[in-house]
Amino acid sequence: MPSLFDPLQLGALTLPNRIVMAPLTRTRAGRSHIANALMAEHYAQRASAGLLIAEATMVAADGCAFTGEPGIFDDACTAGWRGVTAAVHAAGGRIQLQIWHPGRSAHSSLNGGVQPISSGERAVQGLINTPDGKQPYETPRRLRDDELPGIVDLFRRATRRALQAGFDGVQLHGAHGYLLDQFLRDGVNDRNGPGHERYGGAIENRARLLLECMDAAIAEAGADRVGLRLSTLAGSNDLRDSDPEALLSHVAQQLSRRRIAYLELRHMDPALISERRIAAVARQQFQGPCCATAASARPARKRHWMKAVPTPSCSAARSSPIRTWCSACAWAPS
Ligand SMILES: Cc1cc2nc3c(=O)[nH]c(=O)nc-3n(C[C@H](O)[C@H](O)[C@H](O)COP(=O)(O)O)c2cc1C
Repeated sequence: MPSLFDPLQLGALTLPNRIVMAPLTRTRAGRSHIANALMAEHYAQRASAGLLIAEATMVAADGCAFTGEPGIFDDACTAGWRGVTAAVHAAGGRIQLQIWHPGRSAHSSLNGGVQPISSGERAVQGLINTPDGKQPYETPRRLRDDELPGIVDLFRRATRRALQAGFDGVQLHGAHGYLLDQFLRDGVNDRNGPGHERYGGAIENRARLLLECMDAAIAEAGADRVGLRLSTLAGSNDLRDSDPEALLSHVAQQLSRRRIAYLELRHMDPALISERRIAAVARQQFQGPCCATAASARPARKRHWMKAVPTPSCSAARSSPIRTWCSACAWAPS
């Protein structure tokens, strides 16, 4: 039975251990969105993990949801990240970049007045931090079907730039209620009618944008260097789905066919039966490595859950003490 400290093949990457650092936005890139020396130090300090997944990084110059977050949309951003990947590799580590678009979770005051975009026209219920203090989220502009190839192209170009910057691959952010998730889940995706029917309605249509973006990233990097993060149950950013099991089942089957490097599932409360059921769906439908991240509040529950739902690796974010994961990891990969 492997331990957390045994190696793991994750697509093209051979990890010396099964600890994956979850993506963590640190907002240290300033208003230029260019990764810097402080960020290089931050990631290099953590290079002994099996894999680092660098924080959510803007694929579009007008797709900012957090002041100071980094981007990967132009030459200056690409050059900034080179310093980070070089430092991590010099320290013996491996690092992928999480690429994202926040969709309706952005705000015009962070994006030169540009209105947020989404699958529908429902605003996130809540407040967003802006340079002028907290403000209500704005009503997004519903993208037309004929605009979606442009979104796919953003992810294609971001993947190309990530490789040019020296990353060992990319993780697409399909979780937490951001743009790709806003197409997946029917809590906001209520598209129908002329100009909106191809990417709304049936699950196959709602998954289309995510899968097209995955295909674009795969065409650039190869499937074995592309991973995906999903949070089909988590209600982050005011987003839910009426049938998360059916949604995950379809997406996981499609990803399995594409032989991507891994599927990462972000969970909320590992003790919930619904969480276990959704993890089991992923394991049944996705034949590659699955990685699980859970909220760190209750280590004992986490341990119990990790044993109940075998996964070949786990990812830890802010405070998860390594000892927790260590004892949690007495499971057999399936
Ligand atoms: C400060 C902070 C920043 C985060 N940034 C990201 C991010 O950029 N992308 C992402 O997918 N998740 C992000 N997350 C979620 C974490 O990756 C992780 O899933 C969550 O914190 C649960 O893991 P934990 O219990 O080990 O903290 C963030 C979480 C925190 C606390």
